[in-house]
Amino acid sequence: MPDTCDVVVLLSGTGSNLQALIDSNDIKDSPARIRAVISNRADAYGLQRAKDAGIDTRVLDHKAFEGREAFDAALIKIIDEFKPQLVVLAGFMRILSADFVRHYQGRLLNIHPSLLPKYKGLHTHQRALEAGDREHGCSVHFVTEELDGGPLVVQAVIPVESNDSAHALAQRVHAQEHRIYPLAVRWFAEGRLSLDEQGALLDGQLLAASGHLIRT
Ligand code: GAR
Repeated sequence: MPDTCDVVVLLSGTGSNLQALIDSNDIKDSPARIRAVISNRADAYGLQRAKDAGIDTRVLDHKAFEGREAFDAALIKIIDEFKPQLVVLAGFMRILSADFVRHYQGRLLNIHPSLLPKYKGLHTHQRALEAGDREHGCSVHFVTEELDGGPLVVQAVIPVESNDSAHALAQRVHAQEHRIYPLAVRWFAEGRLSLDEQGALLDGQLLAASGHLIRT
């Protein structure tokens, strides 16, 4: 097992997934160490969570840049000061440039609140309800140039109840996010999870297209 796996977390908002990564025994028992939290929004509550946990924080305001490429190049510089083995997107609400994604190829994870490939983008819970889906959930995946489209690592599947609201569904999905993200980060930190040209590998075995499935 590697000595440590330095992790940088990017976020834009509340940071409940960051909190899960900080608190999870999966992470405490693993070589993962969160070295920095970076936000494109100075008012992101996730920054406060990081400070409370004694983690370094940085803010890089995307509005101060001419375009996506310039912002992403500046972001790469800040991230790389921490020399991370893994970069974790935890509610980082920015579309990433191809250069950024290529720079972190194989060491960039994202969490998304749907059973990908369903419902890429926003309003995933409402869309699942409107489609009459019986099941919904969340996905951790390696990031590639296709938005919300990279190889899946793990998905948590929950039943949709007949009287569900988008809010109630979102809360139950969020609780599952807080389980599967620490698990995926742990696997990566332990050297068990990797990406090659065929897809995501766990313990050297190619994962199914859906990733590792957890049903509740
Ligand atoms: C999470 O639900 C995450 O899946 C979603 O943002 C939320 C952040 O919550 N990410 C995306 O939609 C990315 N496409 P948090 O700030 O409480 O962790």
